[in-house]
Amino acid sequence: MSQKTFTVTNNATGQSEEFPVHEGTHGPDVVDIRTLYQKMGVFTYDPGFKSTASCESSITFIDGEEGTLLYRGYPIEQLAEKSNFLEVSYLIMYGELPTKAQYDHFVEMITHHSMVHESFRDFIKGFRPDAHPMSVMVGMVGAMSAFYHDSLDVTNPEHQEISAHRLIAKMPTIAAMAHKHTKGQPFVYPLNKLGYAENFLHMMYSVPAEDYEVDPLHARALDLILILHAEHEQNASTSTVRLAGSSGANPFAAASAGIGCLWGPAHGGANEAVLVMLEEIGDPKRIDEFVARAKDKEDPFRLMGFGHRVYKNYDPRAKIIRKMAIEIINKTEGNDPLLDIAMKLEEIALTDEYFVEKKLYPNVDFYSGIIYKALGIPTDMFTVIFAMGRMAGWMAQWDEMISDPKRVIGRPRQNYIGAARRNYMQMDKR
Ligand code: ACO
Repeated sequence: MSQKTFTVTNNATGQSEEFPVHEGTHGPDVVDIRTLYQKMGVFTYDPGFKSTASCESSITFIDGEEGTLLYRGYPIEQLAEKSNFLEVSYLIMYGELPTKAQYDHFVEMITHHSMVHESFRDFIKGFRPDAHPMSVMVGMVGAMSAFYHDSLDVTNPEHQEISAHRLIAKMPTIAAMAHKHTKGQPFVYPLNKLGYAENFLHMMYSVPAEDYEVDPLHARALDLILILHAEHEQNASTSTVRLAGSSGANPFAAASAGIGCLWGPAHGGANEAVLVMLEEIGDPKRIDEFVARAKDKEDPFRLMGFGHRVYKNYDPRAKIIRKMAIEIINKTEGNDPLLDIAMKLEEIALTDEYFVEKKLYPNVDFYSGIIYKALGIPTDMFTVIFAMGRMAGWMAQWDEMISDPKRVIGRPRQNYIGAARRNYMQMDKR
């Protein structure tokens, strides 16, 4: 079969050039414009990358129109129902579901890297107790490069792997330490007999003075949330990790950059913003008022947890989380008024012409906060948990980028609209 091409014509000059078109496994074709500037002397302009594929990837596929999400080809619904976070992390990182021996080895690697260097305890104490845990996490993860000099050669596959394992393994420990620091409680060491999500809850909630048993339903709910957040192709934070890593920066530095990006309310920070919004609404009677504000172009307010750059249908992760939110609320606390508000808000928004026309559906962040709240997790920890789950995806994407023999530093161009060339003028003449 002959290579598909795409013709670009410059109407001003009449120059016409053909560019190769690449076909993926699923999804739209991609026009390869790498030689556009060289051949035609122009750049493309696409802030926000709305029509630009920044890389080739074999990790995740999203069909935003259909509401489909596949990790390495496996539908998210199947993984959410049948798998667990560490098996999914293995799948994302290595490309295949593990055999029993591979799984056991991976779990052992992650479990046995969950402790942090003792100096981390002193390091974290340097943060103010009222520091947002995301700021602590950005600092702590970046600082890991100062603690693990032995694995910073990004071209060495063993170093790549051990760094990824360390990052996945230590995220719950660092997250729980950030929380304990704000509470003024002693840090709790990880326990190797516990599962990944269980261990995090143990480090978050146990105190030396009392026995603490992790509720299995809470551990399962958190594990499910981690599966759903584990990977999402070239979103803003993942693209940040890739871009930071494309210079050859170590994975701890790249991951720290990704956490910083995730923090924003248009991205992972939305889960925190959803709960703040639901609390502000406070009463189902006020929903119409907030929906009207979201539609008002003069008002910057948006319905948090609604809309997505890629999904123009119900986010498949939101469907799964919604079910778990209902289950957990029914089993733990009875009826949470915020769940009622969330469900009514969803119902109204899904039938409102503005939201229907713009294809604004609930995203993954809409219901996750309700679950976190039922688990007793403070609002400022929501995005931290997102980061914990996403580390597996970030590391798989970083590894794919760094191991690509065609890797080049990410370096976009621009349309310069500043002052034209001019000469320096002495201060007394300005
Ligand atoms: N409430 C009200 N209106 C909205 C919302 C919303 N939540 N989201 C988008 N719109 C409107 C915009 O005003 C815009 O209207 P216009 O065409 O009349 O100007 C239109 O829908 C398209 O929105 P854009 O911002 O151009 O879409 P984009 O793809 O750039 O943004 C985003 C996607 C950032 C997620 C946006 O929907 C949003 O801000 N949502 C709220 C924050 C949120 O929930 N973020 C989490 C995303 S999921 C994640 O990161 C895990």
